[in-house]
Amino acid sequence: MAEKQRLRIAVLGTGYLGATHAACMADLGFDVLGLDTDQSKIASLSSGRVPFYEPGLEEVLNRNLAAGRLRFTTDYAEVAAFADVHFICVGTPQQANSNAADLRYVDAVVDTLAPLLTRPAVIIGKSTVPVGTAARLAARFRALAPAGEAVELGWSPEFLRESHGVEDTLNPNRIVLGTDSPRVEQVMREICASQIERGIPFLVTDLQTAELVKVSANAFLATKISFINAMAEVCEAVGADVIQLAKALSYDDRIGGKFLGPGLGFGGGCLPKDIRAFMARADELGVESALSFLREVDAINQRRRARTIDIARGLIGGSFAGRTVGVLGASFKPNSDDIRDSPALDVAATINSLGARVTVYDPEALENAKRAYPQLNFAHTMLEAVRDAEVVLLLTEWAEFRDADPDELGKVVAEKRIVDGRNALDPDYWRSRGWTYRALGRP
Ligand SMILES: NC(=O)c1ccc[n+]([C@@H]2O[C@H](COP(=O)([O-])OP(=O)(O)OC[C@H]3O[C@@H](n4cnc5c(N)ncnc54)[C@H](O)[C@@H]3O)[C@@H](O)[C@H]2O)c1
Repeated sequence: MAEKQRLRIAVLGTGYLGATHAACMADLGFDVLGLDTDQSKIASLSSGRVPFYEPGLEEVLNRNLAAGRLRFTTDYAEVAAFADVHFICVGTPQQANSNAADLRYVDAVVDTLAPLLTRPAVIIGKSTVPVGTAARLAARFRALAPAGEAVELGWSPEFLRESHGVEDTLNPNRIVLGTDSPRVEQVMREICASQIERGIPFLVTDLQTAELVKVSANAFLATKISFINAMAEVCEAVGADVIQLAKALSYDDRIGGKFLGPGLGFGGGCLPKDIRAFMARADELGVESALSFLREVDAINQRRRARTIDIARGLIGGSFAGRTVGVLGASFKPNSDDIRDSPALDVAATINSLGARVTVYDPEALENAKRAYPQLNFAHTMLEAVRDAEVVLLLTEWAEFRDADPDELGKVVAEKRIVDGRNALDPDYWRSRGWTYRALGRP
């Protein structure tokens, strides 16, 4: 019997999500064509180089380029002619002047692709969008595509974590699909067959529930982080230790220990903008009070940045003017070069604006940080960043910083003072080596 024709997959938008998705779909054995409007990204991916830092992705990319299953293009006509299934993976950032999501990239995909669809196609949205977007886009595809009703859309939100992108795409903890179309469901079941076979939960629901699963998951995670950071604020007022408090809470399996690490709080290209877009959408829907708690979640998160700055200022006598400050960390989290809404760079830039000379080091995010924050100084090693510093701030918990030797750093700083913004170091050990050690939520 002839082998069944394999589905041909297009991935529209090859950033952190899309490049990972394209490479992993090829790894599952599909023929994949990735598209982006950014020529340099496409040139880089085509030559086997991932244009951002994501552990393990370059290997998967090259394996599948070599196998001939994966290609990249900037040409929508090529994609329309090639693919049976189109995954939408473009960005949905926060609008410049409001909390709402900026949907211009998602809309551009529809407006460019739809008029080129002359044959049946399944569209699967993966970008994080406000509830109601998918139904609107489905109608627009039907209206604009020459193939009309034969173009059907489902939404399958993405839950991958940057720095675990490959593993999370190949082995997600669940797959959610919003659709009312049997054909869309059948196509997704075919794409996810090996994952479904391995017992990965596959949940089919309506479009709006699928959209809501993603934003409510992020709202919950943000709330958990801000909850423990609120406890840190209370601990600071009474001299209690939030690390011990969090540890004690974590043994209760109704609470659990994940996302319960007190510190400088969340950032990145997802959590902050997703909870804000969720609030903005709730306002439009007339249910703003249901999500008013997220305003406080966001405010607690912002206050941690201010508090970190206050602690550092207190350590050097009340003013940053003319002082030398060393900052360890630029990415929003370790094992990533993503600096979108990075708490570390926000803190570094504020301290710089208060008159200090700030030097930042990060193992992977220096190039991105230099482009976005030209006013800061950057160093290529940890020791260079803290040389002559009157206070050091640890703001992203890279292993290199967790494992730092207080004696080695102590030899080059001007004063042995450290603010551990991530509760990543052992306070007793650092104090025993002569450092003044301060952290959020601890005596
Ligand atoms: N990064 C993550 O960990 C993650 C996880 C889950 C969900 N998401 C969601 O996935 C979406 C993408 O996020 P990301 O982090 O990959 O963003 P990103 O900015 O890294 O990538 C978006 C890509 O889309 C491209 N693009 C813009 N307009 C285009 C168009 N008209 N046609 C084709 N390509 C276009 C951009 O050039 C860019 O490469 C967002 O909605 C985000 O919320 C991201």
